[in-house]
Amino acid sequence: MKKLGLGVLGLGEGRSIISAGVNSPLWSVARLCDLSEELGKARCAEFGLDPKVYASSLETMLADPAVDVVGIYTPDHLHADHVIQTLKAGKHVICTKPFLHDLSRAREVLDAQKASGKQVFVGQSSRFFAPFTRQREHFESGAFGDIITVEAYYHADHRWFLKKEWAKNDAFKWLYGCISHPGDLVRWYLPDIEEVMGYSSLSENGRSLGLAHPDTFHFVMKATNGVTARVSGSYSGPVVPLQRDSNMSCILRCANGASQGDYYDLRYAWKIGSQSVVETFEDQDAHYFRFGGHSHHAGEYQNYIEYFARSITEGKTPKPDAREGIVTVALMQAMEESTQIGRPVKIKEVLGRFGLTDLMS
Ligand SMILES: NC(=O)c1ccc[n+]([C@@H]2O[C@H](COP(=O)([O-])OP(=O)(O)OC[C@H]3O[C@@H](n4cnc5c(N)ncnc54)[C@H](O)[C@@H]3O)[C@@H](O)[C@H]2O)c1
Repeated sequence: MKKLGLGVLGLGEGRSIISAGVNSPLWSVARLCDLSEELGKARCAEFGLDPKVYASSLETMLADPAVDVVGIYTPDHLHADHVIQTLKAGKHVICTKPFLHDLSRAREVLDAQKASGKQVFVGQSSRFFAPFTRQREHFESGAFGDIITVEAYYHADHRWFLKKEWAKNDAFKWLYGCISHPGDLVRWYLPDIEEVMGYSSLSENGRSLGLAHPDTFHFVMKATNGVTARVSGSYSGPVVPLQRDSNMSCILRCANGASQGDYYDLRYAWKIGSQSVVETFEDQDAHYFRFGGHSHHAGEYQNYIEYFARSITEGKTPKPDAREGIVTVALMQAMEESTQIGRPVKIKEVLGRFGLTDLMS
């Protein structure tokens, strides 16, 4: 299989996909682009790439025939622009979460994809983290039976992130940036969420650091088949010690059993009948966490770029694709509106306002 040429736009968290690309037999890292030349050159040096690989503009990167796919890791509110530009240049897209920061350009993104005939893959990294991947495969085996309810949360002390200028921008919202993880995990199991209701608040910790929008969230939601789910997140305060909590978890309660995927400890626990098992993927720690600490996601990205490469070669639509990604953005928008009006909001109504009802079955 011919290696795919990867261009990386945005070299903060983009560092993780560079690491994924240089370590994958399916990819070759062709170009790196960032507004900061200093960062671009530093990343070239870090990964042993020729400094000429650095491009100061997306246009330059897109003009390079060696680039087949662009991985987009720029601030959330720039994703729509960068996805559309990349598709118009005839390249495939990997876009990190949140796919879009609102729905205003969703139709334009879909039209650009259609016109290009290229693939768009939304980098919902949590799906590609071993405990959650294993939980999904185990669920798909049918052993657990029908879902009774799903609970997912992502809590983290992200005050360090608020040092970034764009985090104080009015367009920056933790609801889209972080709730997109547990929101997507719930939609993985319950794609047809019909309606959502919730509360949010901005803590004094977040406000004093310049955050403009809420940092604390609790939501309940209902799928069209009547199954209910819960999603929570809190981002400007300390978290419970890791021995007691995973920070990100997904719990499935089903007719014949229950399972829980956990972020920290790379742990997966499940129970069916009298069988009760805790599995660990701790031996894969070095695959997932390559730069010290647990704040980068190189392992998840390596798993997803290899999945995406296979999708391209086999002509299959990757999941989540642009359509699925946009409905997840609509779910987040419905969540946001619900916190503002104090009532449940239907996803279909939100999609309808942007001429997108065809995305919901
Ligand atoms: N688990 C995950 O999937 C995960 C984890 C972390 C971050 N992210 C996402 O990655 C994105 C970037 O976050 P980050 O933490 O790296 O932010 P960051 O601010 O550290 O990095 C963004 C980079 O983009 C560059 N940039 C901005 N505009 C540009 C442009 N027009 N052209 C070229 N470069 C440009 C900036 O110079 C900066 O280096 C966000 O959307 C975030 O939600 C995803």
